[in-house]
Amino acid sequence: MDTVVVAGATGYLGRHVVVELARQGYAVRAVVRSRERAEQPGPFGAPSLRGVAADWAVGPVTDPAFVAGVCAGADRVISALGVTRQKASPWDVDFLANLHLLEDAEREGLRSFLYVNVLHAESGRSLILRAKAAFAAVLERSALAHQVVNPSGYFSDLSDFASLARAGVMVLPPGDVRVSPIHGADLARFCVDHLGDVSGSWDVGGPDVFTYPEIGRLALAAAGRPERMVTVPKGVLAAAVWVASRLGERPGDLARFFAEGLTQDAVGEAFGEHHLADHFAELASRTAR
Ligand SMILES: NC(=O)c1ccc[n+]([C@@H]2O[C@H](COP(=O)([O-])OP(=O)(O)OC[C@H]3O[C@@H](n4cnc5c(N)ncnc54)[C@H](OP(=O)(O)O)[C@@H]3O)[C@@H](O)[C@H]2O)c1
Repeated sequence: MDTVVVAGATGYLGRHVVVELARQGYAVRAVVRSRERAEQPGPFGAPSLRGVAADWAVGPVTDPAFVAGVCAGADRVISALGVTRQKASPWDVDFLANLHLLEDAEREGLRSFLYVNVLHAESGRSLILRAKAAFAAVLERSALAHQVVNPSGYFSDLSDFASLARAGVMVLPPGDVRVSPIHGADLARFCVDHLGDVSGSWDVGGPDVFTYPEIGRLALAAAGRPERMVTVPKGVLAAAVWVASRLGERPGDLARFFAEGLTQDAVGEAFGEHHLADHFAELASRTAR
């Protein structure tokens, strides 16, 4: 039975990865900063890790002294580690913490390292995407077998559409971009199925392709609301990024990241069984309870 070190194990995707690995018979060492939080259910329906992880490495993954030895005795690494809503520099987490983990995996003689990147990260201008693309480039030069998975957006990130639907007005990004969001459990299965000694890189999304107005309609229908949708003009989005960048580096970078994400096609290989309409219906029934 291979032991897999999972970094980012308390995240939306990381929790699904740990559960999927255990389901497929792997032993998991979960790298977390709080075991107590890991053993509670996660946000957006992500599972608790209580009784699922065989082993724990608890500490600050941004500290190289903590990371040294985290991979000892294990076979493979999956990293779903990255800044999304956390107050941290993507350079410290997405690039440096992953780099120290890769160095430890190489030192400890592990067999492979799978990294969860972002679809089209290489063309992004935000610090988040530049840090991710930089780590993916380093990993691709590693002597370890390596897998880079480039997913489209997750269902968790589209939960804001459900909140807007409950408020009764859908606010949509400009343009007619197409996206194929994916459920965490489906992406976890894709990652675990691609673990191994063969290197590669894959663009992946969920089973359905949508425009944002189609997503808006699904969310409004699930909330039982009439179709009231407003599209933000391109100039307003650019102005919002400009204003956010005047507020500081972090708000500016986040605004740039979201603006880029909302205005670019993000369609990967179709994978999985979970449909967004069911996710919105579940969110609507959860808030009705
Ligand atoms: N969400 C999307 O739509 C999407 C789409 C494509 C790719 N991705 C990428 O997929 C990966 C997982 O995304 P997700 O949505 O599952 O994100 P998430 O729920 O925010 O999980 C991120 C993980 O990274 C950890 N982390 C972040 N900052 C940290 C810090 N300063 N110190 C220690 N740990 C830190 C988090 O730990 P804590 O729980 O302790 O904060 C968590 O375990 C990320 O790299 C993301 O960029 C996401």
